[in-house]
Amino acid sequence: MMIRQFFLLLVVVFFLVACAQESQPQISAEVTEQTADGAIIAGDAVAGQRIYIFCQSCHSINEGGANKIGPNLHGIFNQKAARVEGFMYSAALSSADITWTADMLDQWVARPAALVPGTTMVFAGVNDPQQRADLIAYLQASGVEN
Ligand code: HEC
Repeated sequence: MMIRQFFLLLVVVFFLVACAQESQPQISAEVTEQTADGAIIAGDAVAGQRIYIFCQSCHSINEGGANKIGPNLHGIFNQKAARVEGFMYSAALSSADITWTADMLDQWVARPAALVPGTTMVFAGVNDPQQRADLIAYLQASGVEN
């Protein structure tokens, strides 16, 4: 009798584990980001569109958009740095072996010159981690929706 109950319990545990795995979040326009103190911040692409005002004088983000002072940013998320055709990158960014993950974009937007000394992106940086997370969610969404 005891043994039967034990097996019943095992079956229930396996069932719960299977359910937990199925409810993993799917990739969406939201990006989560880990701050230096370990907190996870969820980015909101709609809020990020407002932060993008800081960037749009130098960057287009629509598909096939023109390079301006900076390169077109369409689909930049998870791409290698310095890959946009027809844009003259600095030697510093061209030779930096960077893939634009959420973490790398976070460091870049916080302070470009700290991540890539010698970059020609003259931008002081966005200090607020929530604003950066929102912006990164917007950059990621541009590769999907625009
Ligand atoms: C004053 C103009 C200017 C502003 C403002 C600016 N950028 Fe840039 N950005 C550049 C330039 C120039 C480069 C190329 C840098 C290099 O070659 O070193 C660049 C490069 C980049 C890259 C790397 C692109 C690639 O192909 O690897 C990303 C990502 C980027 N910018 C994001 C942003 C975001 C997000 C903002 C707003 C928070 C922003 N930039 C604001 C001028 C600007």
